[in-house]
Amino acid sequence: MKIMEVEGGRTLEGTIRVSGAKNATVALIPAAILTDEEATICNVPEITDTEALCDILRLLNVKVNRASESVVINPQDMVNLEITEEYSNKLRASYYFMGALLGKYKKAVMYFPGGCSIGARPIDLHLKGFEALGAKITTEKNKYIVEAKELHGANIYLDIASVGATINIMLAAVKAKGQTIIENAAKEPEIVNVATFLNNMGAKIVGAGTSTIKIEGVEKLHKCFHEVIPDRIETGTYIIIAALCGKNLRIDNMIPEHVDSLLSKLEEMGANMEVGADYVIISKKDTPYKSTDVKTAVYPGFPTDLQQPFTVLLTQAEGKSKITETIYENRFMHIPYLKKLGADIVLKNQTATLTGPSELKGCEVVATDLRAGAAMVVAGLFASGKTTITNVEHILRGYEQIIEKLTEVGAKISLKEI
Ligand code: UD1
Repeated sequence: MKIMEVEGGRTLEGTIRVSGAKNATVALIPAAILTDEEATICNVPEITDTEALCDILRLLNVKVNRASESVVINPQDMVNLEITEEYSNKLRASYYFMGALLGKYKKAVMYFPGGCSIGARPIDLHLKGFEALGAKITTEKNKYIVEAKELHGANIYLDIASVGATINIMLAAVKAKGQTIIENAAKEPEIVNVATFLNNMGAKIVGAGTSTIKIEGVEKLHKCFHEVIPDRIETGTYIIIAALCGKNLRIDNMIPEHVDSLLSKLEEMGANMEVGADYVIISKKDTPYKSTDVKTAVYPGFPTDLQQPFTVLLTQAEGKSKITETIYENRFMHIPYLKKLGADIVLKNQTATLTGPSELKGCEVVATDLRAGAAMVVAGLFASGKTTITNVEHILRGYEQIIEKLTEVGAKISLKEI
């Protein structure tokens, strides 16, 4: 088991460079099998989720070459095998193989995906989309067999603007016959990045980034070169760390527009920051932050993935602040640990009410899921004394070189095997 130890209360100075987006990468890797030629994807983060997807590619006899920041994927000798429960279970994004295999072979056999336990996270919208395109779905316990004689375009309205369903339907539809229209599509930047990749391979997708995406099916996709966008959740996490511990800490290689909702909240709270074309420089405040209320929402709203790290910042706001989670029903598992560190938080239904500022003191905490783990790192860096975080495998699934990046700017943080 790996643990992280953080000696908090240090001031962080220098530059943190943001890595490629996890949530784009995890869709781009499965998407690459839609061509029979080679795809080169660069700015790929070295995180365990990326490795888990490359393992699935290898299972399907796809050639994968990892060189520094890029991955070269060659599916020339690929075989369409069942993706076993062990592989499907390793991460949420394994579900993108359902859409990609269906799009390529008209058949996918795999199991219910894994991922963080932050709610029920059904995949009904993905399956409804596949059915609309002509697939038949058979389930045996956790196993899904998705098969079509022919895939044809369809008009698909998503009841919820789901990121996963939008991308998965795009993957299944790029080679279907005729036109597919996805209405109430999710608008996250990762969707635009995946659509750009597919278009670079010869797909005909318009409207990604809006709530209506139109896909004109094509017969063949070809080789391409593509770059992953910067990770907006990693960006946001480091911005929050800077707001608590930074002295002119520069978060670099990021897209400010992708974290607009966070930046406007920080401005409202009175943060010291300078926003540039592809960077933010931010320093902690000597006086408490102004309190604020936040509600998570689909993009461009405040991201649910930043709710947990942002809660840590709210412990340092004067008076009452509220944070409401609207996307997942079980994304407050960090709250008991923040309380253990000294925060004053009352949790009722989907809203946490914080009264601050609170003195935080290091103690033993648990990374219950990826972003709860990120919240523990943020809290540990700010709190006085030593914080020990267990279950850190969750954190390593999504943050590339987190120890190295934070050490570089002056944090005392280490990873230990026990
Ligand atoms: C993606 C991100 C995750 C982020 C989330 C919301 C990846 C790998 N993960 O997850 O980090 O927190 O978007 O921004 O990109 N839903 C259904 N039925 C479905 C699909 C979704 O009810 O078929 C519900 C979910 O339970 C959830 C909401 O819709 O309540 C949004 O989920 P969705 O956008 O699909 O999230 P993911 O794609 O799983």
